[in-house]
Amino acid sequence: MSTITVTPIAGSLGAEVCGVDLRTMDNSAWATVHQAFLDHKVIAIRGQDLGPQDMMDVGARFGEPNHYPFVKGLDGFPFLFDVIKEPGEKRNFGGGWHSDTTYMKAPPMATLLYALETPQRGGDTLYCDMVAAYESLTPKMKEMLGSLNGVFSAGLKNSGGRSLHHAQIGAMKVTAGETADTYEAVHPIVRTVEETGQKAIYCSKVHTTHFEGMTGDESQPLIEWLVEHATRPEFTCRVHWEPGTLTVWDNRRVMHNAINDYHGMRRHMRRLTSGPTVPV
Ligand code: SIN
Repeated sequence: MSTITVTPIAGSLGAEVCGVDLRTMDNSAWATVHQAFLDHKVIAIRGQDLGPQDMMDVGARFGEPNHYPFVKGLDGFPFLFDVIKEPGEKRNFGGGWHSDTTYMKAPPMATLLYALETPQRGGDTLYCDMVAAYESLTPKMKEMLGSLNGVFSAGLKNSGGRSLHHAQIGAMKVTAGETADTYEAVHPIVRTVEETGQKAIYCSKVHTTHFEGMTGDESQPLIEWLVEHATRPEFTCRVHWEPGTLTVWDNRRVMHNAINDYHGMRRHMRRLTSGPTVPV
């Protein structure tokens, strides 16, 4: 019987999990992996060999699969899609601090990202801890944020619009960029995580266009400050990928940012989101 090790990779969040085969794990091994996820918010599980069905099975441990509206899924596996950047491309998918698909009414609790091919160097992913960021605020700021709802849009309005973004990520099977503005949701700016009772800031420059009842101009400075605050170095960790790494992150409690520092090299990942959850 192998021993599962869970090793933190930074002061605030993130851990590396070794010694488990996700295809064959029993309930006791799953309990260890799940506890690591609850404790560390981001877990990089090393040394996996996952086919599409294996990935669906692991995702099911975290909940029902979520549909991603803007990339065509794999044949036979509509909830899985490939995140690819070819050597000739400049723009990447997932750059910029965000939590996944916050413009949906019930965004995914977890994202599973599996590395198939990684560049010789670079291509890491950054994560930031939205619970630690919330906890470090003053009581007055917490009170004020607690009274706000955010409007979240898929339109990528702060970076030229989704159609432009799609035109620049040619290797991926992107779809329906022109419908992006129809995906909009209103969520609390401070959300509470069911299992842990923790409160987390839920806001990004990528998707939050404004606070409900305020204009974009009124909202922008605070949105920008919240993201600056939440991404302070002491609230972050960095996952270095190698083929066979499956990283699972908690979209309720972290933002992520795919670093685009590997031009001329190929990176090929596979993504699944799970556990649709209405933020409260
Ligand atoms: C994403 O935002 O889902 C992609 C993250 C990555 O490729 O590192």
